[in-house]
Amino acid sequence: MRNPNPPGQPRKNPRPDAQRVAPSHRAGTCRILLFMNLQDLRKSYERAALDEAASDPSPLGQFERWLQEALKAELPEPNAMTLATVGDEGRPSTRVVLIKGCDERGIVWYTNYDSRKGKELTRNPCAALQFHWVELERVVRIEGRVSKVSDAESDAYFASRPLDSRIGAWASPQSQVIGGRGVLVANAARYSAQFLLNPPRPPHWGGFRLVPDQWEFWQGRQSRLHDRLRYRVTAEGTWLRERLAP
Ligand SMILES: Cc1cc2nc3c(=O)[nH]c(=O)nc-3n(C[C@H](O)[C@H](O)[C@H](O)COP(=O)(O)O)c2cc1C
Repeated sequence: MRNPNPPGQPRKNPRPDAQRVAPSHRAGTCRILLFMNLQDLRKSYERAALDEAASDPSPLGQFERWLQEALKAELPEPNAMTLATVGDEGRPSTRVVLIKGCDERGIVWYTNYDSRKGKELTRNPCAALQFHWVELERVVRIEGRVSKVSDAESDAYFASRPLDSRIGAWASPQSQVIGGRGVLVANAARYSAQFLLNPPRPPHWGGFRLVPDQWEFWQGRQSRLHDRLRYRVTAEGTWLRERLAP
């Protein structure tokens, strides 16, 4: 059956509710059908507070406390964080990765070293991470220097992954242009046949660890008077906790 509403052309039979809403032409809004104007979308944050007295003197301690609460609240993907890197000519880029380790040594995630982020981190080993736990009205921002984890650490984590993830690490030339999905499927079949149940860790795949020199904990509050506590390393190597204006 022919589509009565081909893409890119005015709808012949718009839904009754859609008829009531005109595309917005106001400056700064998207020219798409919206049931509510983007400029009218706002939320009051009222769940919790973050003050100096109640926060942990160590940023790692504070992070572990909030991560535990995010896990306990059963948020969707509480371990997902945005990773920002900087490429040539100072051009930043972001993507989501999963935190796989966190202790006094830093924060660890795993990826393809030949990917865009992998290359950018190798050339410029400074990065920023951000967790946004929407339901808890919380954000954590972390900045620092990055280095690769040891081969032994990457090997141990790789060996703990499900088989299809281990094959996927071989099958996907992450960040490269490919001719179609068939390339991935064919690669996965080839590497499955080659390695059977025991794929070794690809040499281009492993972990990065960010050693934080700055953390910020953001708790949404009413009337946009949010709480922001920043921890930064002093010249003496201790953590200084400061409140930032929201
Ligand atoms: C929830 C979520 C978790 C992800 N975790 C990872 C991860 O741990 N490592 C990774 O390399 N890519 C992960 N990705 C895919 C990345 O966001 C990204 O698409 C990929 O790493 C390529 O990024 P790049 O081209 O900037 O290097 C994840 C994506 C999502 C949505």
